[in-house]
Amino acid sequence: MASTMLSFGLSSPVAILDNSKRIGVGKSVGDLFIKGKMSGRVRMAVSVNVSRFEGVTMAPPDPILGVSEAFKADTNDLKLNLGVGAYRTEELQPYVLNVVQKAEKLMLEKGENKEYLPIEGLAAFNKATAELLLGADNAALQEGRVATVQGLSGTGSLRLAAAFIQRYFPEAKALISSPTWGNHKNIFNDARVPWSEYRYYDPRTVGLDFDGMIADIKAAPDGSFVLLHGCAHNPTGIDPTPEQWEKIADVIQEKNHIPFFDVAYQGFASGSLDEDASSVRTFVAHGMELLVAQSYSKNLGLYAERIGAINVVCSSPDAATRVKSQLKRLARPMYSNPPVHGARIVANVVGNPTLFNEWKEEMELMAGRIKNVRQKLFDSLSQKDKSGKDWSFILKQIGMFSFTGLNKAQSDNMTNKWHVYMTKDGRISLAGLSLSKCEYLADAIIDSFHNVS
Ligand code: LMR
Repeated sequence: MASTMLSFGLSSPVAILDNSKRIGVGKSVGDLFIKGKMSGRVRMAVSVNVSRFEGVTMAPPDPILGVSEAFKADTNDLKLNLGVGAYRTEELQPYVLNVVQKAEKLMLEKGENKEYLPIEGLAAFNKATAELLLGADNAALQEGRVATVQGLSGTGSLRLAAAFIQRYFPEAKALISSPTWGNHKNIFNDARVPWSEYRYYDPRTVGLDFDGMIADIKAAPDGSFVLLHGCAHNPTGIDPTPEQWEKIADVIQEKNHIPFFDVAYQGFASGSLDEDASSVRTFVAHGMELLVAQSYSKNLGLYAERIGAINVVCSSPDAATRVKSQLKRLARPMYSNPPVHGARIVANVVGNPTLFNEWKEEMELMAGRIKNVRQKLFDSLSQKDKSGKDWSFILKQIGMFSFTGLNKAQSDNMTNKWHVYMTKDGRISLAGLSLSKCEYLADAIIDSFHNVS
């Protein structure tokens, strides 16, 4: 711990000091220094092992990223990290997409410089990302009604939008699903945007509580920002059907709410970029103004590059121009301008027809591997569990996660007894599971479900 000087003034009962000297006196409680002053007052500085940061309390580990830290510390060979949503190969190794490696080679050959990007990011990236999201022929894009600003992946883009909400809609509140990705609450809390939850997950059916969701969206104050997961809801893996999305759009429109989509898995959930963007496109087709945060962490495996975007679809080009100017104004004091590397990768992959097609194939492969382990896990659970419990909800979920329905104590048992690392809400990342580990995982789930209450 750093040693800190505590200074205080007092009339000296102990020493008359030469103004020019500083006398050190050793004391068992620490080093005591007495400094003289001609004014008759003595300034005394006590150096003790007390930090100026004594008042800073210990933060709890992050409920998701903290799981990886705990996993690393475990020395058991059986350990399995199903905490963070990060894709692994069948050998449970991190995966750098072939198209990313090819794009990086092209970038190196071009010898591009490292100058600052504009505050709004790389123009070629912003164009590509908005077109991927909405479709290049989308009227909102053609009419110049979309404000797109490059963000620091999904989280940074959500955070920028939350700052925008706080500044321009200080009375509005955000509505978030119950449950939701843990960081959503942190983002709105830190941006000082009040939030409340709408019903989403029904533990009885391990499915969507559609009626509850609609009722809560209706009951919220008009003009709320409704946070929606574009596809592959995190943590539940439960998505509304296309018909339900239509109904949700109708209710949000009636209530004059503003939809705020988090799209973290476009192309990665179903294997199709268009299918995974269909919820957002439905809302745009309704003529609504909305916000969409995008991430390329999962679908291009660019986790550490922090590349994503915030898009605001407005009703006029003029509004879009003003909104964009304010997003830039918010970004400048936060991080100045975004990093270029990931933006160039995305722009190169999307802008090159050969690479673009290869990307789609690789995404299908990744999505396919996750579907295979999902199926195998279900098969293993169904074969091994003789209790008659219906595990079919696992097959109904979509994306990289499965919401097992295990409670905190059961999730703790998964980790403490079986060395399976997962979040305490019962979520497992199937992207971190291999076919060869499915049976072991099934044993762990069955034990935790039946033997821990
Ligand atoms: C997750 O939910 O595991 C990922 O989105 C990683 C993260 O940042 O939480």
